[in-house]
Amino acid sequence: MSEPAEIPATRTASYEADPEHVHRVLLLYSGGLDTSVMLKWIQDAYGAEVVCLTVNLGQPGEDYEVIREKALRLGALDCHVVDAREEFARDYLAPAIRANALYGGGYPLFTALGRPLIAKLAVEHARSAGCDTIAHGCTGKGNDQVRIEATVATLAPELKVIAPVRSWQMGREEEIAYAREHGIPIKSSSGAEGEAPYSIDDNLWGRSSEGRWIEDLEHAPEDDVFQLVTRPEEAPDEPELVELGFEHGVPVTLNGERLGLVELIEASAEIAARHGVGIIDHIEDRIVGLKVRDIYEAPAAALILPAHQELEHLVCTIHQNQFKAGLDRQWSYLVYAGLWWEPLRSDLDAYMEHVNALVTGTIGIKLYKGHARVVTRSSPNAVYDASLASFAESGGLFSQSASPGFIELWSLQSRMAWRLHNE
Ligand code: ARG
Repeated sequence: MSEPAEIPATRTASYEADPEHVHRVLLLYSGGLDTSVMLKWIQDAYGAEVVCLTVNLGQPGEDYEVIREKALRLGALDCHVVDAREEFARDYLAPAIRANALYGGGYPLFTALGRPLIAKLAVEHARSAGCDTIAHGCTGKGNDQVRIEATVATLAPELKVIAPVRSWQMGREEEIAYAREHGIPIKSSSGAEGEAPYSIDDNLWGRSSEGRWIEDLEHAPEDDVFQLVTRPEEAPDEPELVELGFEHGVPVTLNGERLGLVELIEASAEIAARHGVGIIDHIEDRIVGLKVRDIYEAPAAALILPAHQELEHLVCTIHQNQFKAGLDRQWSYLVYAGLWWEPLRSDLDAYMEHVNALVTGTIGIKLYKGHARVVTRSSPNAVYDASLASFAESGGLFSQSASPGFIELWSLQSRMAWRLHNE
């Protein structure tokens, strides 16, 4: 028998809800075990009404009608399903592409980019449905709680937050027992009959898996974790060439065909996944202090980000390229750390947009058994002159006889310092 834990009456943060002030809750609902148990538990423990919100960010294989019906069956007043793919691509992924966004050198931030949008939509729906509180299913050990609560506290200081998973002290077994007791259907993938499943999060831009053997750093990935990307050893024996066309830093064509950003990302993901491209086995420094391992599958990002970066390098000067890498890293860190609404992020975006005004052109990439390699580039804005770069020619803007004078002055301070320190 599982009794829900006492609701803690003490608050640590200003935005945490006092139990007696919780009357109608907007629950961010995925249809999975945690949030389904939560849907019942909030009604029981708080005596509150629950309105659900499910956000479609392009996670593959979801049946939103099934999720909606499940929510209603579990007593939700209503369940809103929002297709936010276009907004996600336009306002979150396009800026990420312009910023070559990777955290810790490898994570393309799909979850981190999705959370502020999900939380913003939660605020909008909470307000229009007359809710006083927003509930989410994040644990106390992850980054997602930071991203969601920071967003709610920023955009809607009048709304309170509850995070039942952080306080109810039910483990997996207790949750399953609670679900059984309360007639909450459990999907077989919830592992009710055996092993706990991986903890998954996914959207248009990628998929993460955590838990189980992934927590053992010495354990190499097991095949069953890969649900999106073909294992490279099973990928086709023939390479495939793909051409991505960019305008102002955003991809607009795939193999010459003009596509909206959502479709282009989906189509890129499919091609890259087929060739085993986009597997990332990542050790990550979380904002809450933990170091964790994640297995990521991000096929679209693994194709589009390197192509964008290549084109940007081509149209920018050495100084712009040196400088932007630092700003890219700062942008990614802010987004990872849940500070999407921080003005520094929009300051950086202004710079990213200005630089990317010239990032127009086409990049060809060869895909083969887990690798994506840039093989061709073209841009009207390339700071490139084949005759200047050539070994064969001299003249025009480049005078080889000027080089020794340049080297003399360029190395002057370094040579003086060397002599000083070594003689
Ligand atoms: N480590 C990644 C991040 O912090 C992925 C988190 C996935 N979230 C989840 N609830 N499974 O953004």
